[in-house]
Amino acid sequence: MRTLVLIPTYNERDNLPLIVRRLRDAVPDADLLVLDDSSPDGTGDVADALAAADDRVRVLHRRGKEGLGAAYLAGFRQGLAEGYDVLVEIDADGSHQPEQLPSLLAELADPDVALVIGSRWVPGGGIVNWPWHRKLLSVGGNAYIQVMLGMPVRDATAGFRAYRADTLRRIGLHDVESLGYCFQTDLTWRTARAGLAIREVPITFVEREIGDSKMNGDIVRESMLRITRWGLSHRGGQLRALAPAPRTERWESL
Ligand code: GDD
Ligand code: MN
Repeated sequence: MRTLVLIPTYNERDNLPLIVRRLRDAVPDADLLVLDDSSPDGTGDVADALAAADDRVRVLHRRGKEGLGAAYLAGFRQGLAEGYDVLVEIDADGSHQPEQLPSLLAELADPDVALVIGSRWVPGGGIVNWPWHRKLLSVGGNAYIQVMLGMPVRDATAGFRAYRADTLRRIGLHDVESLGYCFQTDLTWRTARAGLAIREVPITFVEREIGDSKMNGDIVRESMLRITRWGLSHRGGQLRALAPAPRTERWESL
Protein backbone atom coordinates (compact mmCIF):
# COMPACT_ATOMS: atom_id res chain seq x y z
CA MET A 1 0.00 0.00 0.00
CA ARG A 2 1.44 3.35 -1.03
CA THR A 3 1.50 5.46 2.11
CA LEU A 4 1.86 9.22 2.54
CA VAL A 5 2.60 10.61 6.01
CA LEU A 6 1.40 14.20 6.52
CA ILE A 7 3.31 16.28 9.08
CA PRO A 8 1.72 19.67 9.91
CA THR A 9 4.16 22.22 11.30
CA TYR A 10 3.95 25.62 12.88
CA ASN A 11 7.19 26.65 14.58
CA GLU A 12 8.69 23.18 14.81
CA ARG A 13 12.20 24.00 13.55
CA ASP A 14 14.02 21.86 16.12
CA ASN A 15 11.46 19.04 16.18
CA LEU A 16 11.10 18.46 12.44
CA PRO A 17 14.50 16.84 11.73
CA LEU A 18 13.95 14.45 14.67
CA ILE A 19 10.48 13.32 13.60
CA VAL A 20 11.54 12.94 9.95
CA ARG A 21 14.52 10.75 10.93
CA ARG A 22 12.36 8.58 13.20
CA LEU A 23 9.66 8.21 10.51
CA ARG A 24 12.20 7.27 7.84
CA ASP A 25 13.51 4.54 10.16
CA ALA A 26 10.10 3.29 11.31
CA VAL A 27 8.29 3.29 7.92
CA PRO A 28 11.06 3.36 5.27
CA ASP A 29 8.64 2.72 2.39
CA ALA A 30 6.36 5.67 3.18
CA ASP A 31 6.63 9.11 1.60
CA LEU A 32 6.52 12.17 3.85
CA LEU A 33 4.86 15.53 3.17
CA VAL A 34 5.49 18.44 5.54
CA LEU A 35 2.59 20.94 5.70
CA ASP A 36 4.14 24.20 6.86
CA ASP A 37 2.07 27.37 7.39
CA SER A 38 5.00 29.78 6.75
CA SER A 39 6.29 29.30 10.30
CA PRO A 40 8.05 32.48 11.48
CA ASP A 41 10.85 30.39 13.07
CA GLY A 42 12.03 29.14 9.67
CA THR A 43 10.63 25.58 9.85
CA GLY A 44 9.92 25.86 6.11
CA ASP A 45 13.64 26.26 5.32
CA VAL A 46 14.53 23.32 7.56
CA ALA A 47 11.87 21.28 5.70
CA ASP A 48 13.33 22.31 2.32
CA ALA A 49 16.79 21.17 3.42
CA LEU A 50 15.39 17.80 4.56
CA ALA A 51 13.53 17.44 1.25
CA ALA A 52 16.66 18.26 -0.77
CA ALA A 53 18.54 15.48 1.03
CA ASP A 54 15.88 12.77 0.67
CA ASP A 55 13.64 11.91 -2.30
CA ARG A 56 10.92 10.59 0.00
CA VAL A 57 10.50 13.93 1.78
CA ARG A 58 8.54 16.85 0.30
CA VAL A 59 7.13 20.14 1.55
CA LEU A 60 3.87 21.96 0.97
CA HIS A 61 4.42 25.62 1.82
CA ARG A 62 1.22 27.35 2.79
CA ARG A 63 0.81 31.09 2.89
CA GLY A 64 0.06 31.57 6.58
CA LYS A 65 -1.34 30.04 9.76
CA GLU A 66 -4.80 28.83 8.77
CA GLY A 67 -5.21 26.05 11.31
CA LEU A 68 -4.46 22.35 11.55
CA GLY A 69 -7.63 21.33 9.70
CA ALA A 70 -6.92 23.54 6.70
CA ALA A 71 -3.34 22.25 6.48
CA TYR A 72 -4.49 18.61 6.58
CA LEU A 73 -7.18 19.24 3.95
CA ALA A 74 -4.54 20.60 1.58
CA GLY A 75 -2.33 17.57 2.29
CA PHE A 76 -5.20 15.11 1.76
CA ARG A 77 -6.10 16.77 -1.54
CA GLN A 78 -2.54 16.40 -2.79
CA GLY A 79 -2.17 12.81 -1.53
CA LEU A 80 -5.47 11.71 -3.12
CA ALA A 81 -4.57 13.38 -6.43
CA GLU A 82 -1.27 11.51 -6.39
CA GLY A 83 -2.99 8.16 -5.90
CA TYR A 84 -1.76 7.13 -2.45
CA ASP A 85 -3.65 4.25 -0.79
CA VAL A 86 -3.16 5.37 2.81
CA LEU A 87 -2.85 8.86 4.33
CA VAL A 88 -1.34 9.20 7.81
CA GLU A 89 -1.63 12.11 10.26
CA ILE A 90 1.09 12.67 12.85
CA ASP A 91 2.14 15.64 15.00
CA ALA A 92 5.63 17.00 14.34
CA ASP A 93 6.58 17.45 18.00
CA GLY A 94 7.32 13.83 18.94
CA SER A 95 4.10 13.31 20.90
CA HIS A 96 3.10 10.58 18.46
CA GLN A 97 5.85 7.98 18.29
CA PRO A 98 6.72 6.92 14.73
CA GLU A 99 7.79 3.56 16.16
CA GLN A 100 4.10 2.89 16.93
CA LEU A 101 2.92 3.72 13.39
CA PRO A 102 3.42 0.17 12.02
CA SER A 103 0.87 -1.08 14.57
CA LEU A 104 -1.68 1.40 13.17
CA LEU A 105 -0.92 0.47 9.55
CA ALA A 106 -1.17 -3.26 10.33
CA GLU A 107 -4.89 -2.80 11.12
CA LEU A 108 -5.50 -1.64 7.54
CA ALA A 109 -4.61 -5.13 6.31
CA ASP A 110 -8.26 -5.86 7.14
CA PRO A 111 -10.08 -4.45 4.09
CA ASP A 112 -13.13 -3.59 6.21
CA VAL A 113 -11.22 -1.11 8.37
CA ALA A 114 -11.62 2.44 7.06
CA LEU A 115 -9.81 4.46 9.73
CA VAL A 116 -7.32 3.54 12.44
CA ILE A 117 -6.90 5.86 15.42
CA GLY A 118 -3.89 5.80 17.72
CA SER A 119 -5.81 6.03 20.97
CA ARG A 120 -4.77 7.27 24.41
CA TRP A 121 -7.99 6.11 26.01
CA VAL A 122 -8.19 2.39 25.24
CA PRO A 123 -6.58 -0.25 27.48
CA GLY A 124 -2.83 -0.16 26.92
CA GLY A 125 -2.86 3.47 25.78
CA GLY A 126 -1.63 6.39 27.86
CA ILE A 127 -0.12 9.84 28.21
CA VAL A 128 3.30 10.85 29.50
CA ASN A 129 3.95 14.30 31.00
CA TRP A 130 0.65 16.04 30.39
CA PRO A 131 -0.43 18.48 33.11
CA TRP A 132 -3.72 17.57 34.80
CA HIS A 133 -5.64 20.33 32.99
CA ARG A 134 -4.76 18.90 29.55
CA LYS A 135 -5.83 15.42 30.66
CA LEU A 136 -9.06 16.86 31.98
CA LEU A 137 -9.69 18.64 28.67
CA SER A 138 -9.14 15.42 26.72
CA VAL A 139 -11.26 13.26 29.06
CA GLY A 140 -13.98 15.94 29.27
CA GLY A 141 -13.92 16.57 25.51
CA ASN A 142 -14.24 12.89 24.69
CA ALA A 143 -17.02 12.45 27.27
CA TYR A 144 -18.95 15.37 25.74
CA ILE A 145 -18.48 13.88 22.26
CA GLN A 146 -19.79 10.57 23.59
CA VAL A 147 -22.92 12.22 25.05
CA MET A 148 -23.64 14.36 22.00
CA LEU A 149 -22.69 11.99 19.18
CA GLY A 150 -22.66 8.53 20.74
CA MET A 151 -19.85 7.20 18.55
CA PRO A 152 -18.17 3.96 19.58
CA VAL A 153 -14.81 5.76 19.75
CA ARG A 154 -12.85 6.51 22.94
CA ASP A 155 -10.38 9.05 21.54
CA ALA A 156 -12.19 11.00 18.85
CA THR A 157 -9.89 14.05 19.15
CA ALA A 158 -6.67 12.10 18.62
CA GLY A 159 -4.26 13.34 15.99
CA PHE A 160 -2.35 10.12 15.21
CA ARG A 161 -4.31 8.29 12.50
CA ALA A 162 -4.22 6.27 9.30
CA TYR A 163 -6.99 6.78 6.73
CA ARG A 164 -7.61 4.54 3.80
CA ALA A 165 -7.72 6.88 0.76
CA ASP A 166 -11.17 5.55 -0.18
CA THR A 167 -12.49 6.61 3.22
CA LEU A 168 -11.52 10.22 2.54
CA ARG A 169 -13.15 10.05 -0.89
CA ARG A 170 -16.36 8.61 0.56
CA ILE A 171 -16.83 10.97 3.49
CA GLY A 172 -16.40 14.04 1.25
CA LEU A 173 -13.90 16.72 2.17
CA HIS A 174 -15.36 19.56 0.10
CA ASP A 175 -17.62 20.88 2.88
CA VAL A 176 -15.38 20.40 5.93
CA GLU A 177 -15.36 23.70 7.80
CA SER A 178 -13.42 22.78 10.97
CA LEU A 179 -10.21 24.75 11.15
CA GLY A 180 -8.58 23.75 14.44
CA TYR A 181 -8.11 20.45 16.27
CA CYS A 182 -11.89 19.98 15.96
CA PHE A 183 -11.01 18.73 12.48
CA GLN A 184 -10.10 15.39 14.07
CA THR A 185 -13.54 14.95 15.64
CA ASP A 186 -15.22 16.19 12.46
CA LEU A 187 -13.62 13.49 10.30
CA THR A 188 -14.21 10.80 12.93
CA TRP A 189 -17.90 11.76 12.97
CA ARG A 190 -18.12 11.76 9.17
CA THR A 191 -16.50 8.31 9.04
CA ALA A 192 -18.86 6.92 11.69
CA ARG A 193 -21.94 8.44 10.03
CA ALA A 194 -20.92 6.94 6.69
CA GLY A 195 -21.17 3.55 8.44
CA LEU A 196 -17.47 2.84 7.98
CA ALA A 197 -15.42 0.83 10.48
CA ILE A 198 -13.12 2.68 12.86
CA ARG A 199 -10.53 0.80 14.87
CA GLU A 200 -8.52 2.14 17.80
CA VAL A 201 -5.07 0.86 18.73
CA PRO A 202 -3.38 1.88 21.98
CA ILE A 203 -0.58 4.44 21.80
CA THR A 204 1.47 6.28 24.36
CA PHE A 205 1.28 10.04 23.79
CA VAL A 206 4.46 11.73 25.02
CA GLU A 207 4.22 15.50 25.65
CA ARG A 208 6.67 17.52 23.59
CA GLU A 209 10.07 18.47 25.06
CA ILE A 210 10.87 21.23 22.55
CA GLY A 211 8.67 24.21 21.55
CA ASP A 212 5.11 25.06 22.54
CA SER A 213 1.63 23.66 22.00
CA LYS A 214 -0.60 25.71 19.71
CA MET A 215 -3.73 24.75 21.60
CA ASN A 216 -5.72 27.86 22.63
CA GLY A 217 -9.14 29.09 23.68
CA ASP A 218 -10.35 29.57 20.10
CA ILE A 219 -9.61 25.93 19.34
CA VAL A 220 -11.58 24.77 22.40
CA ARG A 221 -14.48 27.12 21.60
CA GLU A 222 -14.66 25.96 17.98
CA SER A 223 -14.82 22.33 19.15
CA MET A 224 -17.54 23.01 21.73
CA LEU A 225 -19.65 24.93 19.26
CA ARG A 226 -19.42 22.46 16.41
CA ILE A 227 -19.85 19.33 18.55
CA THR A 228 -22.92 20.90 20.19
CA ARG A 229 -24.37 21.73 16.78
CA TRP A 230 -23.72 18.24 15.36
CA GLY A 231 -25.07 16.67 18.54
CA LEU A 232 -28.31 18.66 18.54
CA SER A 233 -29.03 17.81 14.93
CA HIS A 234 -28.13 14.14 15.51
CA ARG A 235 -30.17 13.77 18.70
CA GLY A 236 -33.04 15.76 17.14
CA GLY A 237 -33.08 13.34 14.22
CA GLN A 238 -33.20 10.39 16.63
CA LEU A 239 -36.19 11.91 18.44
CA ARG A 240 -38.05 12.57 15.19
CA ALA A 241 -37.48 8.96 14.18
CA LEU A 242 -39.08 7.81 17.47
CA ALA A 243 -42.20 9.98 17.13
CA PRO A 244 -45.29 8.23 15.68
CA ALA A 245 -46.03 9.04 12.04
CA PRO A 246 -48.67 11.80 11.70
CA ARG A 247 -52.21 10.43 11.21
CA THR A 248 -54.27 11.67 8.32
CA GLU A 249 -57.96 11.72 9.00
CA ARG A 250 -60.08 10.61 6.10
CA TRP A 251 -63.35 12.47 6.60
CA GLU A 252 -64.57 11.56 3.16
CA SER A 253 -64.70 7.89 4.11
CA LEU A 254 -66.93 8.46 7.17
N1 GDD B 1 0.44 23.70 9.44
C1 GDD B 1 -0.07 23.89 10.67
N2 GDD B 1 -0.96 24.91 10.88
N3 GDD B 1 0.30 23.08 11.69
C2 GDD B 1 -0.23 23.30 12.92
C3 GDD B 1 -1.14 24.33 13.19
C4 GDD B 1 -1.52 25.18 12.11
O1 GDD B 1 -2.30 26.13 12.24
N4 GDD B 1 -1.48 24.27 14.51
C5 GDD B 1 -0.78 23.23 15.03
N5 GDD B 1 -0.02 22.65 14.08
C6 GDD B 1 0.85 21.47 14.21
C7 GDD B 1 1.93 21.61 15.26
O2 GDD B 1 3.09 22.23 14.76
C8 GDD B 1 2.15 20.14 15.64
O3 GDD B 1 2.99 19.49 14.72
C9 GDD B 1 0.74 19.56 15.51
O4 GDD B 1 0.04 20.41 14.63
C10 GDD B 1 -0.01 19.44 16.85
O5 GDD B 1 0.01 20.71 17.49
P1 GDD B 1 0.25 20.87 19.07
O6 GDD B 1 0.04 22.30 19.37
O7 GDD B 1 1.52 20.23 19.49
O8 GDD B 1 -0.99 20.03 19.64
P2 GDD B 1 -1.21 19.53 21.12
O9 GDD B 1 -0.06 18.69 21.55
O10 GDD B 1 -1.58 20.69 21.96
O11 GDD B 1 -2.52 18.66 20.88
C11 GDD B 1 -2.53 17.27 20.59
O12 GDD B 1 -3.71 16.77 21.12
C12 GDD B 1 -4.90 17.21 20.47
C13 GDD B 1 -6.10 16.77 21.24
O13 GDD B 1 -6.06 15.43 21.51
C14 GDD B 1 -2.50 16.93 19.14
O14 GDD B 1 -2.22 15.53 19.01
C15 GDD B 1 -3.78 17.27 18.37
O15 GDD B 1 -3.69 16.70 17.07
C16 GDD B 1 -4.94 16.69 19.08
O16 GDD B 1 -6.17 17.06 18.43
MN1 MN C 1 1.85 18.58 20.78
